Amino acid sequence: MTKNGRVLVTGGAGFIGSHLVDQLLTAGYEVGVVDNLSTGNRANLNPAGSFHHCDITDRPALERVLREHRPEIVFHHAAQMNVRKSVSDPSYDASVNILGFLQLMECCVTAGVRKVLFASTGGAVYGEQQTFPADENHRTFPLSPYGVAKLAAEKYLYYYHKVHGLNSVVLRYANVYGPRQNAEGEAGVVAVFGNRMLQSQQPVINGDGGQTRDFVYVDDVVRANMAALRTEGFHTYNVGTGIETTIVSVYEAVSREVGWQGTPGKGPEQKGEQRRSVLDCEKIGRELGWSPTVSFQEGIRATVRSFREELNH
Ligand SMILES: NC(=O)c1ccc[n+]([C@@H]2O[C@H](COP(=O)([O-])OP(=O)(O)OC[C@H]3O[C@@H](n4cnc5c(N)ncnc54)[C@H](O)[C@@H]3O)[C@@H](O)[C@H]2O)c1
Repeated sequence: MTKNGRVLVTGGAGFIGSHLVDQLLTAGYEVGVVDNLSTGNRANLNPAGSFHHCDITDRPALERVLREHRPEIVFHHAAQMNVRKSVSDPSYDASVNILGFLQLMECCVTAGVRKVLFASTGGAVYGEQQTFPADENHRTFPLSPYGVAKLAAEKYLYYYHKVHGLNSVVLRYANVYGPRQNAEGEAGVVAVFGNRMLQSQQPVINGDGGQTRDFVYVDDVVRANMAALRTEGFHTYNVGTGIETTIVSVYEAVSREVGWQGTPGKGPEQKGEQRRSVLDCEKIGRELGWSPTVSFQEGIRATVRSFREELNH
């Protein structure tokens, strides 16, 4: 079968990465996946792709994968992505999100990769926002080691572009949610609330619940990656909805879908998390013709449905 091209997706057994792998395969790409299965899941792996059980900090293993697979394009989604873990163990966060990232970039340069698409975070690189929504030129003062590491990686990508000619696209995601999101960590509030309610366990709201986030559905994020395939050079885009939603509203929306009648527990405010976060996505709309298509209500419905099916299996 004629293929569109060879691509590699790091973190392809994870939540966003696995949806991206599915779409790339549908679009006719030959897809390799690198994942150490630390938070990813074998069940997410699409059998039509080739899987390399490999850690991005393991340089020889990574070199082997790139030599064998010879990707033209790399989508980098593998990361330590728990903000609270980055606060409690900044060195570990940096070992994956900065040093692992650099190992991958060095391998990409050696292997002649043409382009890298990087999963960054609009929720963490800006820090406490000065303007709402934040566009790509907003000042960047991350409040967590996770945000610092992602910002460092963005700067390295600029260096690799200027000095080594590697094309790259930085996609600064808002809060992504949808089917397959891991509910075991503390990261995805929709997944955590949904799974707890479906198992009749009380969800906990940290702080007063008035914190806001910009929730974007995973299929829209995949579409942004596909749209970004067209670019050459170095680009940075926010990927969100521009809509600010409080954690209490998320709780209410998920409760409605689940049919949960209980009350939330109360937890302490978390360090390293800003109060309000919402992204201006005008630039990606103007330059790549991308805009979100799935409403919060539709997205929550589809997500709760998939969690319910998974728990029933
Ligand atoms: N989910 C969000 O809301 C969100 C928001 C902004 C940015 N991001 C970024 O998107 C990417 C994917 O996030 P996700 O939500 O799908 O999380 P995820 O935990 O489901 O995916 C991360 C994947 O990377 C793998 N991984 C972790 N460390 C690795 C290592 N050292 N070597 C190889 N594989 C490793 C994990 O096993 C997992 O499959 C991450 O880079 C994350 O920082 C996510």
